Amino acid sequence: MIIREFELKDITAVKKFTDEAIGLNYYSEDELRECHQKSISNDVLCSFVLVADDGEILGLRLAYPPGKWNKGKGSRLREDLWNIPLEKTAYFQSLFLSNKVQGQGWGPRLSEKSIEAFRKVGARGIVTHAWKESPNNSSIRYLSKLGFQSVATHPEYWIDVDYECVRDGNPCRCTAEEMILYI
Ligand SMILES: CC(C)(COP(=O)(O)OP(=O)(O)OC[C@H]1O[C@@H](n2cnc3c(N)ncnc32)[C@H](O)[C@@H]1OP(=O)(O)O)[C@@H](O)C(=O)NCCC(=O)NCCS
Repeated sequence: MIIREFELKDITAVKKFTDEAIGLNYYSEDELRECHQKSISNDVLCSFVLVADDGEILGLRLAYPPGKWNKGKGSRLREDLWNIPLEKTAYFQSLFLSNKVQGQGWGPRLSEKSIEAFRKVGARGIVTHAWKESPNNSSIRYLSKLGFQSVATHPEYWIDVDYECVRDGNPCRCTAEEMILYI
């Protein structure tokens, strides 16, 4: 397995992966193309994929540098509770790993690659919306291990996203924990 930059040629394979891992139609191919664009600042690409030897996508870390985003999938943001301005803040969008490779440290490794890229483009912090109902609380646990602190809780954060949540179906009633890491 290798970690490498998320490239445009990966879109079809990544869509298949996100349909299975996150939920059917959470991302369309067009939105993934947009996500790819939002991942680039000053020629630095901040999003990464985990790829098996046979080319299968096993993990995705979508990450946006400062200036390329102003909200997550949901619209709520507690910018008033951060110690840095939005224009210096990067965003961790989705991180998902195939069931086959969870719990082996690949999530933190993918995230470290994005953090390295964020440092290159001068980010002072990273905000994310962690999935509170993730199995065994693995989302908040891996983020806390990286040093993220909780800022706010958003009930039903993804309710307006028209997709089949792997837990609830449609609509998704999951909770997001807004978290921040200063870098
Ligand atoms: C959350 C996730 C990205 C973390 O990546 P990872 O490579 O598995 O991270 P780690 O190996 O460091 O594991 C983090 C913790 O979660 C636990 N864990 C990970 N996957 C698990 C699973 N499927 N079931 C139970 N526990 C799990 C690990 O044992 C570890 O526990 P510890 O803190 O007590 O050591 C990954 O597990 C995943 O894709 N989960 C499902 C989707 C998800 O929740 N994404 C986040 C959306 S915001």
